[in-house]
Amino acid sequence: MNKPVVLVAEEISEAGLAVLGADFEVRHTDGSNRTALLSAIGEAEALIIRSATQVDAEVIAAAPKLRVIARAGVGLDNVDVEAATKAGVMVVNAPTSNITSAAEHTVAMILASARNIPQAHAALKGGEWKRSKYTGVELDQKVVGILGLGKIGQLVAQRLQPFGVELLAYDPYVQPARAAQMGVRLVQLDELLRRSDFITVHLPKTKETIGLIGDRELQLVKPTVRLINVARGGIIDENALYAALKEGRVAGAALDVFAKEPCTESPLFEFDNVVVTPHLGASTHEAQEKAGTQVARSVKLALAGEFVPDA
Ligand code: MLT
Repeated sequence: MNKPVVLVAEEISEAGLAVLGADFEVRHTDGSNRTALLSAIGEAEALIIRSATQVDAEVIAAAPKLRVIARAGVGLDNVDVEAATKAGVMVVNAPTSNITSAAEHTVAMILASARNIPQAHAALKGGEWKRSKYTGVELDQKVVGILGLGKIGQLVAQRLQPFGVELLAYDPYVQPARAAQMGVRLVQLDELLRRSDFITVHLPKTKETIGLIGDRELQLVKPTVRLINVARGGIIDENALYAALKEGRVAGAALDVFAKEPCTESPLFEFDNVVVTPHLGASTHEAQEKAGTQVARSVKLALAGEFVPDA
């Protein structure tokens, strides 16, 4: 009897592949290569992806046998969940697998920006010993504004508390009392923008959040503010950020995500005070192991016709 085909379109951990075991025919393709994906998807009963594979209505229509799309990570913005649901295809993710890694990367980006670590590192390796050029700022006594106090935003708040910062957050879905328990004061977006020394984004990419931080918002911030985005590209409008940096209306930015990825060229790269990483928020061994094993378990259950609990 033919084994069900599980198409792995992006790298998942060995531990995840081990969970799938020998009951499936595991095939691999490069999900960022549209032609390869469309030709490989026809036989697949399950598709495993990360964030680089766009699973839209066309891909779903090309996959008549598909029963489950498994996202080894949190964000579902690269999956057309409505089209999948209409086609009777289940969509699962691993909603807590990488939240610690994302929060830790955020703290790393905040500190990298505050202390000019990547710039000083590159200069020193290039033979330049420049101490005053890379004078930074402390976090102590500063105001950190968290956009989105969900799972990752909360972990960021927890990790930043010992630095002696004041924590503000904007999140219309969180109760003030719940935020207060975490030592965070909920405020309106404009107050957060006006008061923060660091603004960090922890929102999903949706119609409502794309361009949430645009020209108007960047006119409200302090010129000493640093913006951090380890969530999704496009939530901070890149053109508006470029203009704000060019005009000295913001002191710096630390970006892990971009409106279009992969992003190897951007006008934002011209600024020395912009620190960048290539969407590494979830890229730790621990997070990838959790994401891989969680989605592999969900795929097994889904293909066995069993209930798939929230991971
Ligand atoms: C996620 O949404 O889980 C992250 O962006 C991680 C990833 O896909 O690598």
